[in-house]
Amino acid sequence: MPMWRLSSSRRAVVIPRFGGPEVLQIRSNVQIPDLEPHHVLVRARAVSINPLDTRMRAGYGRSIFGPLLPLILGRDVSGEVAAVGASVRSLNVGQDVFGALHPTAARGTYADYAILNEEQLTPKPPSVSHVEASAIPFAALTAWRALKSTARIAEGQRLLVLGGGGAVGLSAIQLAAAAGCHVATTCGGRSVNRVLEAGAEQAIDYTAEDIELAIKGQFDAVLDTIGVQETERVGINFLRRGGHYMTLQGEAASLSDRYGLLFGLPAATSILLKKQLQYRYSHGIDYSWTYMRADSEGLDEIRRLMEAGRLKVPVDKTFSISQVKEAHEAKDKKLIPGSLPDLFREGHSVVVEGFIRPHNEVSKDECASNGKKFADKAMELGCYFSATEVLAKHDEKYMPQEVAAAIQRNKAKIEADNVLGGMTKVEAESKEEDNAVKS
Ligand SMILES: NC(=O)c1ccc[n+]([C@@H]2O[C@H](COP(=O)([O-])OP(=O)(O)OC[C@H]3O[C@@H](n4cnc5c(N)ncnc54)[C@H](OP(=O)(O)O)[C@@H]3O)[C@@H](O)[C@H]2O)c1
Repeated sequence: MPMWRLSSSRRAVVIPRFGGPEVLQIRSNVQIPDLEPHHVLVRARAVSINPLDTRMRAGYGRSIFGPLLPLILGRDVSGEVAAVGASVRSLNVGQDVFGALHPTAARGTYADYAILNEEQLTPKPPSVSHVEASAIPFAALTAWRALKSTARIAEGQRLLVLGGGGAVGLSAIQLAAAAGCHVATTCGGRSVNRVLEAGAEQAIDYTAEDIELAIKGQFDAVLDTIGVQETERVGINFLRRGGHYMTLQGEAASLSDRYGLLFGLPAATSILLKKQLQYRYSHGIDYSWTYMRADSEGLDEIRRLMEAGRLKVPVDKTFSISQVKEAHEAKDKKLIPGSLPDLFREGHSVVVEGFIRPHNEVSKDECASNGKKFADKAMELGCYFSATEVLAKHDEKYMPQEVAAAIQRNKAKIEADNVLGGMTKVEAESKEEDNAVKS
């Protein structure tokens, strides 16, 4: 098949270093490399912003991506085929396609022209817009890998999705419902209708309910999109023997970032093996870290479901490429939900973990500023503000003084409080207040 190309350079969003949205640069003369035989050059019409993009920008995966800087960000794309490599058979120039790059791919999709392998793309259904299509493949392929390749879900089985309100969670609900499974999920209040429409039979608002009391029965598989200690404990306790627990928050990248690839990867493997053995012995279940992987069979099935209107991921907002910084800022804020202050109630204690605990990929300044925002709001309302011991013990030096002081004051409370990892939980001080929280 002939190979042709419109131009030898393209406009792309590049990060020359890791950091906040301010590091994003739009460059106009980024070279388009020669296509290899299995490559497809896609003229991008829409790309989506995944949590992985913002995490990569902030330094997650620096052990892999650091030596490759400057990098083009982006995993998902929808657009039209502009050129194909010599061995490409299934796609033609001019065809509308969508797809996603592998999590560790050195190439990115935030560009006028993106390069993907043939099996990472599939024809876009005409009934779905480029914007809608670009929101789906990375998330849906992640869910596909967990449900179809790892848990091998089958009709009639029960699936619990912890964190069903996001792109991966919603995709998992729809894939499982299409396979004839019964799905229960946790999500924020704003996502309840969305997850029920997606096919969940039970939606538990983790901001208002005790999820352990609300979840009923046992499950064949649990997909944990949050993947903190608390959700892992809950997920594993609700599995039947022989069931599968799958978390999206594997530690291979973060440990490699911390200790280097040479020590980090073996450390991650040994943690994973230890957990697998431990849970097999204690609960009789399979434990796994699940990662997105390009899978042409999965992508074809995803396309068929999209065509049938049975797989959708809502798009919150669209931005032009020149607004990429604003787009990343908006996504960063969503990861630190702006609506959290609604949860604060006078006199209650608020425990926050995750958002203010510096991870490798989040800058210390960013964490400190988020922590301060929560502390200010809590103190303004006369709430207790506390954080986890991890934060108190290890990260005090990064905290603004007000936060450190609040942590210090509430230390006894910290130990007594319940920590809902990754999110905020309002703890009632008395029965009366308990009712007030729920009303
Ligand atoms: N391992 C991999 O290959 C892989 C691939 C894709 C994604 N991921 C990771 O998986 C996570 C989810 O990705 P995504 O694309 O679905 O993200 P997303 O679309 O940004 O959704 C995140 C959602 O998580 C929900 N949430 C946060 N804390 C929660 C809690 N404690 N309980 C229940 N729901 C909670 C929120 O839902 P509400 O709006 O309902 O509050 C939020 O909208 C991210 O951390 C991402 O980095 C990993």
